[in-house]
Amino acid sequence: MDQNQDNAVDKVLLERFESEIWNKVPHLENNQEGGKIVNATPLVDITADFKECAKKIYNLDISDSELQVYGKLDSTLLTGSIKVRPAANIIHEAISTGKIKSGQTVIEATSGNFGIALGMLSKLGLQVVTIVSRKLQEGVFHELRNMGIKIMDLEMDICPAPGMEGKKDELVAKATAANVRSQLTQLGFDPSIFDNSITEIEALLGKQDIINLAKLLAKKYNCFCPEQYDNDLNVNAHRTITGAEIDQQLQQDGNSLDEFNILCTFGTGGTSGGLSRYISEKYNKKGVHVIFPPGGQDVAGIRTHNNADGLKYYQPEKYAGEYEVDFEKAKPLLKFFVEKGHDIGESSALELYATLQLVSANKGKKFVVMICDGIEKYRKNLEKIGKIQPPGQVSQEEVASNSSEYDKVIWIHTQYTPQEGGIELLAKSLGIDKSKIVIPNARTAQQLLSGQGIPDEINNSIQESKGKSLMVCMAGRTSLMAANVLAEKGIVTDSLIGGITELPEARNSQLSELVKQASQF
Ligand SMILES: Cc1ncc(COP(=O)(O)O)c(C=O)c1O
Repeated sequence: MDQNQDNAVDKVLLERFESEIWNKVPHLENNQEGGKIVNATPLVDITADFKECAKKIYNLDISDSELQVYGKLDSTLLTGSIKVRPAANIIHEAISTGKIKSGQTVIEATSGNFGIALGMLSKLGLQVVTIVSRKLQEGVFHELRNMGIKIMDLEMDICPAPGMEGKKDELVAKATAANVRSQLTQLGFDPSIFDNSITEIEALLGKQDIINLAKLLAKKYNCFCPEQYDNDLNVNAHRTITGAEIDQQLQQDGNSLDEFNILCTFGTGGTSGGLSRYISEKYNKKGVHVIFPPGGQDVAGIRTHNNADGLKYYQPEKYAGEYEVDFEKAKPLLKFFVEKGHDIGESSALELYATLQLVSANKGKKFVVMICDGIEKYRKNLEKIGKIQPPGQVSQEEVASNSSEYDKVIWIHTQYTPQEGGIELLAKSLGIDKSKIVIPNARTAQQLLSGQGIPDEINNSIQESKGKSLMVCMAGRTSLMAANVLAEKGIVTDSLIGGITELPEARNSQLSELVKQASQF
């Protein structure tokens, strides 16, 4: 049955949703735009701690008496993050219009917080399936499981192989489709429905398009997909509620949003888009600064600039500014604020560090920083701050000009392995003898990346090495992840930026001459 053909509203579900969820999250009284906001999250003046952090951690004196920094504590929300705002609005509308009924399944692509927010529906008897396409921190998986959510873990962007046109996409798509099919079957979905759509599914997986995969699976299995990346209710929740809420709270403190800069990060673009629109409609200006981590850095819940570009709600013309900020530099700030008792997560720390940079550069005195979630899920990573020497990320030029320092080049990838031509190209481009290149099999790479310990083959190579070890993969992400896993065990290695595919000589070769699909499983 097509869900759209039966629009009867499940009144019992709606009532339970309103009493158990809607009434606990920020919303407009009487659903009236411009009206009072019920359940606002705290807007807290954190200027004193911000100044202390600047002085103690970064040795910066920002004693300016006009400086005002507020934190908008969405970490206090039901399910612990800002994402409950769009989730509640999208689900409320869907139940109210008969798109979701008791017993139905909700399926969505998410990097964590939106899925955790959807988990509130498990309490109402709805099944929630999240498609997770990124390496998530263990604490995030733990919360997803705790909320009773079913997880399909694809780890798609672990290390895509750009440039390996056609054939590679096909191979990856087929392997991933088999993985999706098996996970769906385990979750109780009928595999024959999947098989009937295999061409469409493989086409999406070939493009690593998990967002549309969630939509397609929802359609085929008669589930509901919130479509957070394309659903205007996501942006609208922040325009009509979050923006108005901050405005009302600043006014209560004798301030005006007109004079403030808001800092936020980017996941779907809902927060940045909604707040930008609120400010431009009410104050006719741009007031939102969007902060990204640089490529290669994984900050929980948010995207890099590259991964945001192309999404529907990535709208740079609406922002007051966009900045790439090094998360490594923001980590001591995260530790400082958490030790001070502030419940802030990784993305908040990135924004606060960006605020510090704006203040130092004299680019504003009044700021509202969106505290999108808290620290609990990220405790394990927090404990590592200051204790681990991060791996070096080095370019081909840097390696080639210091090649005598490297004694081992270790290939690391779970799907591809270099051909003879690839090994020769690596040796030539990096200026390192072929005998120093070690190629563990794909299973060994998988073992290392999944945190099951350091496989002997890799450990022995590194221990034997009289100089530095360099991790190399297809495009630079897998090797960085491997180097990070090793760093956690106290083993310092470097990772080659861009991997084999970005070596200058690789540009003149067919990638299929350099690498082949790994078979040693
Ligand atoms: C921790 C965290 N911060 C910020 C964001 C950004 O939110 P948005 O999706 O509205 O861009 C997200 C989104 O998932 C998030 O999980």
